[in-house]
Amino acid sequence: MLGMNSKDWLNSTIGYIIYPSSYLDTDGDGLGDLKGIIQKLDYLQYLGINLVWICPIFKSPMDDYGYDVSDFEHINPLFGKDEDLITLLNEAHKRDIKIVIDFVLNHTSKEHIWYKKAIEDRNSEEYGYYIFKKGKENNLPPSNWKGFFSTSTWEYEPKLDEYFFHCFSKTMPDLNWANEKLREKIYQIAKKYLDLGVDGFRLDAVAHLAKDLSFSDAVGEKDENGLVFDASKFSNREEIYHYLDLLNENVFSKYDIVTVGEVGGSISAQESLRYNNKENGPIDLVFNFDTAWCNGAYASIEKADDEIKTDLICLKNGFMRWWSTCYKDAKGLALYWNNHDHPRVLSQYGSIKYRKESAKALITTLLFMYGVPFIHYGDEIGMSNTLYTSLDDFKDVSAQNFILENKHKFSEEKMIRFLNRTARVSGRTPMQWDDSENAGFSKGTPHLKINPNYKDVNVASNLKDEDSILHYFRSAIALRKEKTIESFVHDAYFQYIDYENEDVFAYSHGKNQELVVIANFRDHEVNFNFDKTKYEVKLHNYSDDKNSMTLRPFEVYLLIKKI
Ligand code: GLC
Repeated sequence: MLGMNSKDWLNSTIGYIIYPSSYLDTDGDGLGDLKGIIQKLDYLQYLGINLVWICPIFKSPMDDYGYDVSDFEHINPLFGKDEDLITLLNEAHKRDIKIVIDFVLNHTSKEHIWYKKAIEDRNSEEYGYYIFKKGKENNLPPSNWKGFFSTSTWEYEPKLDEYFFHCFSKTMPDLNWANEKLREKIYQIAKKYLDLGVDGFRLDAVAHLAKDLSFSDAVGEKDENGLVFDASKFSNREEIYHYLDLLNENVFSKYDIVTVGEVGGSISAQESLRYNNKENGPIDLVFNFDTAWCNGAYASIEKADDEIKTDLICLKNGFMRWWSTCYKDAKGLALYWNNHDHPRVLSQYGSIKYRKESAKALITTLLFMYGVPFIHYGDEIGMSNTLYTSLDDFKDVSAQNFILENKHKFSEEKMIRFLNRTARVSGRTPMQWDDSENAGFSKGTPHLKINPNYKDVNVASNLKDEDSILHYFRSAIALRKEKTIESFVHDAYFQYIDYENEDVFAYSHGKNQELVVIANFRDHEVNFNFDKTKYEVKLHNYSDDKNSMTLRPFEVYLLIKKI
């Protein structure tokens, strides 16, 4: 049936994203761990979550919080022992929760043994696993390319008198996927974890596996160092599809798993079908983030906070573009507001003042669209961005590089304001479990500052309050899994109601608009023209139901037509 995911079980899957460093610390080192996740499986089951994606857990110097893997064979000792993964898988499976792990295929840490061997011996097999190149005249970098973390894509390796390529941090050399032996190594690692019982992979930065091997200079606007950012030099290039086909043929296709690829922002929904088309796409779902920046925050360094506003037309267009492309032609569609690389959705599209109302509106809007929802940990209690007051607080390699690049261009105040709105650390603060010290996250010193609002915003207080975000969230998930609702969500009639409305996000499923979601995305009242008398209210975030359709701040309805 159209709109059904190729793997049946995905149709009723609700995913949850865990940043392991920030979930629950059981050994007091200030970083979360696998035992912490195991302890919270009952909680996740209680919420109705049936798939958890865990950000990287392998050994790593943690320069990019685990995305810099130094050993794929072992669990990061900061997160626990190798056996803890087995326990986690067993315990999760007992509760019908699938575990998907982050697999970083594009690069390793410089501390990986492969890299160490490569730079010791140019004739080693490992030398071919990376991309080394001689400098240009006067030993300048081989090309003028700029990477994702505000630096050149080239770093000099003195041991070889050559440069290595990296599209992220300079401590993370990119792997050379053109090398067959490297590809085989990756297959072995993938198989090892699938054989252990892992239910799939989130494929990190998968769009960058192939580079323009001519390494010719990029043409375009130069930064002060003469560097040009041209993602097409290392994103979504033709060879990738071949590499992923091989990976699928050799590994993924042999297991009943889900693969979720991060394909970045430089690809359209139509182009993404190369990754996950129904016929022969090598992976199942893609994350693209087309809908993650519809408040223009990224381009907002000069703007005051009150000048930032959610552009609902951008959001509606984004979701529709992906629905209309993927519904018919893709293996499935991933639905999300954000992940660990983004500020909190409540701070972006919701409201601190209307925390409860807006968190409920956001979850309702997302959950009843077609696709596999992925919820970022903490959204179920309305966690929001922490307000940092010093540039040093932004403990993240991409933020620190951004600061270095821009500190002479903008005042400190502007940079802090901008980073508070955009930095990745805002979405990575420790989970707020209760109102005890460190929000119940750790008995040690947390690796990132806890949001001071934890005294009120925490799981324990949510559990006590019948009207809490958490309870609403749980009811919403339960409804989403009801068979009649599930079949509407997967039907072919998804459409917006009053598409041009700039304040209200409203849509329906069903030939005769049988399932309707109406959400006011503003912190003020908005009139909306819709006759809801023929509908039963299934979810609503205000205690009284008014007959008029003057929607209160962030008021949301999930309606089902009465028969
Ligand atoms: C992905 C991850 C991000 C990481 C980057 C490099 O974008 O989500 O957190 O920094 O890849 O691995």
